[in-house]
Amino acid sequence: MASFRALPLAMFILAIAFHPGLADGTFSESMYFNWGAQHSSILGNGDDLQLVLDRTSGSGVQSKGAFLFGSIEMLIKLVPGNSAGTVTANYLSSTGTKHDEIDFEFLGNSSGQPYTIHTNIYTQGIGNREQQFRPWFDPTADFHNYTIHWNPTEVVWYIDGLPIRVFRNYQSEGIAYPNQQGMRIYSSLWNADNWATRGGLVKIDWNIAPFIARFRCFRARACQWDGPVSISQCASPTPANWWTSPTYRQLSYGKLGQMKWVRDNYMIYNYCKDTKRFNGQMPPECFKPQY
Ligand SMILES: *[C@@H]1O[C@H](CO)[C@@H](O)[C@H](O)[C@H]1NC(C)=O
Ligand SMILES: *[C@@H]1O[C@H](CO)[C@@H](O)[C@H](O)[C@H]1NC(C)=O
Repeated sequence: MASFRALPLAMFILAIAFHPGLADGTFSESMYFNWGAQHSSILGNGDDLQLVLDRTSGSGVQSKGAFLFGSIEMLIKLVPGNSAGTVTANYLSSTGTKHDEIDFEFLGNSSGQPYTIHTNIYTQGIGNREQQFRPWFDPTADFHNYTIHWNPTEVVWYIDGLPIRVFRNYQSEGIAYPNQQGMRIYSSLWNADNWATRGGLVKIDWNIAPFIARFRCFRARACQWDGPVSISQCASPTPANWWTSPTYRQLSYGKLGQMKWVRDNYMIYNYCKDTKRFNGQMPPECFKPQY
């Protein structure tokens, strides 16, 4: 009997103790420059970030906190004009040799040529899961919404609300999933002209530097991670843990249709189709439904 009466109280305390941290702040509250601060800036009311790449260096910010599951939103306006050789990135990453990472990267190009939107995911230190897309819009003309949804069931990459890629949790079948360690959020702009544009053929034109990428409305509705915690703590079904709610377990038919449209028309590289690269030994998740 006593334990029955104690239960609601215990649940209440648990709900408070593990209420997901909402890193809902601005750049100035939630992030700091880890690179190139001298020539980059946070503007406006702390919600506008400008990253600069010039001959001296690129630049980047990272979140103060680490997160385990959440929805990470960023509006980005990419380097306009001749951006060949530059890479703008927005990604989540943990540290160490068995790190997890979820990437959005944008490979610049010569004026009038299309950007490449590059995605990847590392689990327990293993990556090599690239999928690339062409934007169906001009990513330099305006801000677009690049969001990563990451919950215990799946990771979804979204652009302007359209899902473009899913990586589902098949841990029960021996495929590692990013659910063991917290990741920080990183945004950066750097020189990658040894590989980024047409495989490194097109170099940065320093005469037109500085290159500027703009970020705004950073939002992490995410579970704060403060060291090793059990997954059940982060995923406990308090009302605020929206990412475990049924609507986030699988994409709706409407969203699946949108994803098919993007992948049928704008996907330019899929590691799961690259049999030559993997010598016929395709990664196991390539044989599983990814939606
Ligand atoms: C960005 O996209 C995500 C995913 O579709 C959505 O939940 C969010 O409301 C969007 N944010 C903005 C500022 O448009
Ligand atoms: C740049 O444009 C060329 C020509 O259209 C294209 O082949 C290439 O994939 C584009 N993107 C990058 C990052 O090289």
